[in-house]
Amino acid sequence: MFRTHYSNQITPELNGQKIRVAGWVYEVKDLGGIKFVWIRDREGIIQITAPKKKVSEEIFKLIPKLNSEDVVAAEGIVNFTPKAKLGFEIIPEKIIVLSKSESPLPLDPTGKVKAELDTRLDNRFIDLRKPEIMALFRIRSSVFKAVRDFFHQEGFIEIHTPKIIATATEGGTELFPMKYFEKDAFLAQSPQLYKQIMMASGLDKVFEIAPIFRAEEHNTTRHLNEAWSIDAEIAFIEHEDEVMQVLEKLVAYTIGYVKEHNEKELKLLNFELEEPKLPFRRITYTKALEILKDLGKDIPWGEDIDTEGEKILGQYIKETYDEDLYFLTQYPSEAKPFYIMRYDDKPEICRAFDLEYRGIEITSGGQREHRYDILKAQIAEKGLNPESFDFYLKAFRYGMPPHGGFGLGAERLIKQMLNLQNIREVILFPRDRKRLTP
Ligand code: 4AD
Repeated sequence: MFRTHYSNQITPELNGQKIRVAGWVYEVKDLGGIKFVWIRDREGIIQITAPKKKVSEEIFKLIPKLNSEDVVAAEGIVNFTPKAKLGFEIIPEKIIVLSKSESPLPLDPTGKVKAELDTRLDNRFIDLRKPEIMALFRIRSSVFKAVRDFFHQEGFIEIHTPKIIATATEGGTELFPMKYFEKDAFLAQSPQLYKQIMMASGLDKVFEIAPIFRAEEHNTTRHLNEAWSIDAEIAFIEHEDEVMQVLEKLVAYTIGYVKEHNEKELKLLNFELEEPKLPFRRITYTKALEILKDLGKDIPWGEDIDTEGEKILGQYIKETYDEDLYFLTQYPSEAKPFYIMRYDDKPEICRAFDLEYRGIEITSGGQREHRYDILKAQIAEKGLNPESFDFYLKAFRYGMPPHGGFGLGAERLIKQMLNLQNIREVILFPRDRKRLTP
């Protein structure tokens, strides 16, 4: 390997030893009798110091010819000295140029020259060379690790369901149609139907982490056309609140994990991450409408709480209780999909919930209707054709336990956790109305 140590692994015990480092040229300085190169790697910066008397002529001549962002590897002796800005330097015995960078660069990797989000996304590989941008993706990596760890600790089994599907799950308008040989097919909006089918298999507690595809019309700061969903489904529940308890534990665990393992990244982002207290507040849909009405926002019962309503509610909860995360529960049945169970004694409301984080929905879920006849009727009632759900309905005819689950949007979670303006910040190559490359 061209590298034996990352910058953060160079500790005083290595003083006087020969090591290899590699990365991108951050800066070059020529003071005549002494030349410097700073190399940036994933973990930080390394100073290479080349005094004329101590290095070969070849190295001495090479350094001034290096350009910003050339990829180099250097072998040399570690020297801990208070004279070096970072506390140590490397006196090079060998420097190899592994790849030259063209100039000018399409984006300033130091971040000194500010760039529009579009320019940054067009040049994502350079954008990530900025430590505070890389920090976002290291946090994203931690989030996925925490989520997987949590589910395994809680006895969930990871499943993988098809992404080419025949039937809409969340409504027809958001589908990406595709040709599947002689048939019409769609990209999956959600693993919803398949994770439910798995409840009839005996796996009991399952999770899936996978992309979902939504032909969202709107170009907003919280919608993507390809997003990552963290889905779970749990059998033998008696009430939707049992699903909410798993979800709130998952979210609190994930936030706690990031706080503990990403101290450096949070510092780079200059962000104080607050750990939420359990349990999260539960507010019924009807109560939420009352609160909104008092605040001057009138939403007719039965309609979805729109973006503005969510925002006002988020501010109200923050100001009143100093809380960022809360559930909205007991939605009107007409506002939720066919697969949600309604209250037997009050069929106009159903066992669906949303989890809100700083005034934005990050999860929806609920208890499902597991009774075949009622489910079939609900499909028809929503104007859908039960026949196209045959493969799904079949699973309800041979022993389907009561069950419920949720879909947690990974990008929404990370965006709201870090209080970012735009969801595109937390996905490497966003797919939106305009973006299909890179
Ligand atoms: O609310 P949604 O559509 O619910 C479902 O997919 C259900 N099958 C979930 C369930 O188990 N009942 O999507 C769930 C979450 C949203 O709360 C949001 O966080 C995320 O997925 N999401 C999106 N994220 C980014 N861009 C989009 N276009 C998204 N659509 C949904």
